[in-house]
Amino acid sequence: MEILDSREGLKSLLRDWRHHDEHIAFVPTMGNLHKGHLELVRRAREHAERVVVSVYVNPTQFGPGEDYETYPRTLERDTRLLRTAGADALFVPTDETMYPMGLALATVVSVPGLTENFCGASRPGHFDGVTSVVARLFSLVAPDVAVFGQKDYQQQLVIRHMVRDLSLPLRIVTVPTVREKDGLALSSRNSYLDEAERNIAPGLHRTLAATGRHLQDGKRDYQALERIGLEGLEAAGFVPEYFAIRRAENLEMPDRDCDELVVLAAARLGKARLIDNVVVTV
Ligand code: PAJ
Repeated sequence: MEILDSREGLKSLLRDWRHHDEHIAFVPTMGNLHKGHLELVRRAREHAERVVVSVYVNPTQFGPGEDYETYPRTLERDTRLLRTAGADALFVPTDETMYPMGLALATVVSVPGLTENFCGASRPGHFDGVTSVVARLFSLVAPDVAVFGQKDYQQQLVIRHMVRDLSLPLRIVTVPTVREKDGLALSSRNSYLDEAERNIAPGLHRTLAATGRHLQDGKRDYQALERIGLEGLEAAGFVPEYFAIRRAENLEMPDRDCDELVVLAAARLGKARLIDNVVVTV
């Protein structure tokens, strides 16, 4: 596995692969890799001869007071895991490589609409940071396919919107959420949970799944189901941020006939902010 931190190094490797007509699948991450990330790498393999993974803790997607400074950085372990997973290249850009003109002069890519609610409402500027860095990474790696996790449901929709709107020449693949046995979605931020919180944490997915079952049973009073979900999270010990039933394709309000729904939630548990979702076809 090649490890690169500069544009030049990446460029010459990509040129070589392109010269041999090899396709490139790309998995952007912020590192501290777990089995969810590795599943994205495995799926990336199915789409191209070459797999590039990036590890970059992007400062522009963290708000003031968020965990940018303390975000777990475990590059040595990440490198080992990616070697074993069979990634072809690990791109670990420095801040200078990623933002050559500095943060104050950096071009911003911003998707309106979709980013205003849910995680966008509680984390102002977060999605601008995500789309801006992902657009930069797409431009540097020029992949044929990029792979994202369903766990960050709103994020993959926002990226899909950006790719479509800017006619970026790549395909987005979304991979189902990888979970612990008890249902908790794997996340780098799960390490912020103490033992008591870790026991409560699977309640997030349990509550989402219960709502999904109600929808499949034909219940259509979305507001009542959302209220029950919020109350369920509170009763379990979470401080919920949102619990919403929306159209899976665009997060808009569903009417009663909508048959592809997503139930999505964010909740605080101690120092951790957990998000999760289930997609339901009714
Ligand atoms: P990060 O949180 O490291 O996640 C990288 C990718 O892994 C994202 O596509 C995310 O949805 C996916 N992922 C995380 N946990 C998962 C799980 N349990 N199952 C399946 N996939 C999972 O998301 C980011 O980084 C950043 O915003 C990034 C896109 C890299 C831009 O900086």
